[in-house]
Amino acid sequence: MINGTCKSRVRKRADQIKSYRCKNLIAVLEYPTDIKNIGTVIRNVNALGIEKTYIVDPKKSLPDDWSEMRNRKSLSKTSTSAIKWSFVKRFDSTEDCISHLEKNRFISVVTSPHIKGKDNVVLHEGDYTYPRLAVWFGNESRGISDLAVANSEFCISIPMYGMIESLNLGTTSGIVLYEVTKQRRAFQVAYKRAIRGPRITGQLKI
Ligand SMILES: C[S@@+](CC[C@H](N)C(=O)[O-])C[C@H]1O[C@@H](n2cnc3c(N)ncnc32)[C@H](O)[C@@H]1O
Repeated sequence: MINGTCKSRVRKRADQIKSYRCKNLIAVLEYPTDIKNIGTVIRNVNALGIEKTYIVDPKKSLPDDWSEMRNRKSLSKTSTSAIKWSFVKRFDSTEDCISHLEKNRFISVVTSPHIKGKDNVVLHEGDYTYPRLAVWFGNESRGISDLAVANSEFCISIPMYGMIESLNLGTTSGIVLYEVTKQRRAFQVAYKRAIRGPRITGQLKI
């Protein structure tokens, strides 16, 4: 394929999806250990039009530099190249990530299969239309930290009806972020209509 044709296709697609993107929405992974899960979350984040992924990575298993991260073969493979089109930032600690989010006026909500903190909601009953929202996902075996819970507005759970205690991290991110982005897109459409008249309609045609 001629390079110019490829570029114009990418540009066209970028223009098509622009108004559907969920700005001021961040998915936060706290101490993820499995590269396949990290790749799956980045893929979900990209597919759902979420602005950013933050990763709390005290073991420094990921590079600090974004372009270096984008060129990591393992991440490119597990995210099916979504890393190329996604903004990912790493933090050394939960404290650093919380203070960065607070400085930028983000509200945090955490996810857990268990009751955590003061306020708990089942996924479909929560309101995710805060102007700036960070949705936290916990470590594969330990779950979300007490510090993240203490600094969050509420804890979201996906009801579990089987014999097992929890869902896989990558799967959870897809389910939770689908609901969050669905609500935020509906809110964005209603808000834009209210101030400018109808512009975005129904399903994105590809
Ligand atoms: C494999 S789970 C961790 C299980 C861990 N034993 C615990 O107590 O949370 C990894 C992450 O996926 C998310 N998760 C898994 N199942 C969930 C559910 N039913 N509802 C909400 N979040 C869930 C949470 O963010 C959790 O920290």
